[in-house]
Amino acid sequence: MSARGSVASLARRCLATTARPVVRGDFSEITAGDLETFTSILGDPKHVVTDADDLLPFNRDWMNKYEGKSRLALRPKTTEEVSRIMRHCSERNLAVVPQGGNTGLVGGSVPVFDEVVVSMARMDEIRSIDPLAGVMVCQAGCILQHLDETLAREGLMMPLDLGAKGSCHIGGNISTNAGGIRYLRYGSLHGSVLGLEVVLASGEILDVLKPLRKDTTGYDLKQLFIGAEGTLGLVTAAAIHCPPRPKAKNATFLSCDSFPRVLETFRRAKADLGEILSAFEFLDKESLDLATRTFADVKNPLEGSSDGFYVLIETSGSDEAHDAEKLQSFLESSLEAGAITNGAVAQDVTQFRAFWRVREGVPEALNTHGAMYKYDLSVPQAQMYDLVEETRDRVGGMAYTVGYGHLGDGNLHLNCVADAYSDELSSRIEPFVYERTAELGGSVSAEHGLGQMKASCIGYTKSDSAVEMMKLVKRTFDPKGILNPYKVLPSSN
Ligand code: FAD
Ligand code: MLT
Ligand code: ZN
Repeated sequence: MSARGSVASLARRCLATTARPVVRGDFSEITAGDLETFTSILGDPKHVVTDADDLLPFNRDWMNKYEGKSRLALRPKTTEEVSRIMRHCSERNLAVVPQGGNTGLVGGSVPVFDEVVVSMARMDEIRSIDPLAGVMVCQAGCILQHLDETLAREGLMMPLDLGAKGSCHIGGNISTNAGGIRYLRYGSLHGSVLGLEVVLASGEILDVLKPLRKDTTGYDLKQLFIGAEGTLGLVTAAAIHCPPRPKAKNATFLSCDSFPRVLETFRRAKADLGEILSAFEFLDKESLDLATRTFADVKNPLEGSSDGFYVLIETSGSDEAHDAEKLQSFLESSLEAGAITNGAVAQDVTQFRAFWRVREGVPEALNTHGAMYKYDLSVPQAQMYDLVEETRDRVGGMAYTVGYGHLGDGNLHLNCVADAYSDELSSRIEPFVYERTAELGGSVSAEHGLGQMKASCIGYTKSDSAVEMMKLVKRTFDPKGILNPYKVLPSSN
């Protein structure tokens, strides 16, 4: 396989991981007595999953890269049930993995050993929507896309959107501090989440769910759980600020002949499109080729183009004619200045979706390969593609290397796929990618979290004093360390 050539066809996924080995913590093992207690809490044995086949989807992640050995998954419906589960787990010293839609990309949502999986999937009720304030309160297990569809009926939208929207939960989004394609416009969940209800390791229910836009009474505790990846508590409900749904949307798919031209296009998009710019995504030719080769329904909107880089821009606003005029003028001046070489504007909803299908097809296409080394980095935009090229050079013909991502937010997705994991390939990629990211002053986890994949890598981005303070926070909320052990922070064992 050549580094820039075709990727070998679908190979059986090797479940080997790049995670560092850890030793099982001194937690209790499940007994018949525990199963009786959980059945009495949940009221029906069907919500206490113990069958080996039924447990498989709880034990494996979306990439088939991480696999745990849990012998028990629990499916609560109410906050009170989650609280009683945690009280029992705390008393019995049973380790727990909170699980949302299980679409996470760092092995955070699956057990490492035999931790009890607490699935939030049945906690899927919307409690209230206030169209005037633009606030929705819902349970943590609501699926992102369902929330957005419901909000559409009230003229509102979810402030975040990502390729996994059909499966991921809002509780999982909050727990990973997910970014996605509209971060550029609507910002971080640290701003959009107005309140949370959380069950702590002890079973205590922390109620900081008030749906207020402004509130300066004391410490803002909810912020600690946003991005905590289930290590500090189980998010059971959230109040989200939901912006008005735009009346007009446009998408344009552009080609650029070099990465500096992509950056120039971004500069122009910010200046010319201003308040209507809602996404600025880039993908390299290798990403586009892979997606179009893998899926028949993914087509290059600029058929025949052989440029090295592609950009997908979305605008959203309240006046179709005004937005279209702005977009047209941006495209004409970008073409004239040589920032872009070609472009297509979506003419209808079908084309709009087809453009996004290209971008969303990339991670799905990568996932059809035997081994996937997936990196999610924050790096200064000017140096972003250097990192892809340096990595491509290092892995040579051993893997197919692609770069794409949320360029508008400085978030690069660097991926190397191969037929199988190998020590040789791993050592060519890591720790190089982390070291270079640190040298560039970046982050080794822009939006996917650390999970088990990068629990020992936090030091590339955070100072020793910050990590020590995080450990203190962890001990305060979870003194026995039963919540999502072996994740996020370096394992003491
Ligand atoms: P899970 O995967 O189930 O869990 C993720 C973490 O959160 C785990 O540590 C878990 O223990 C914890 N957790 C889950 N629910 C709770 C809860 N209620 N309380 C406490 N802890 C909890 N991510 C992005 O940021 N941007 C993207 O653009 C993006 N695109 C993606 C595209 C695809 C095709 C896929 C497969 C994934 C993508 N992701 C993206 C990654 C993933 O979808 C997000 O991280 C998402 O937020 C995870 O939600 P989930 O419900 O699946 O959580
Ligand atoms: C994306 O932006 O497509 C997601 O974060 C998933 C990925 O990195 O592959
Ligand atoms: Zn992403």
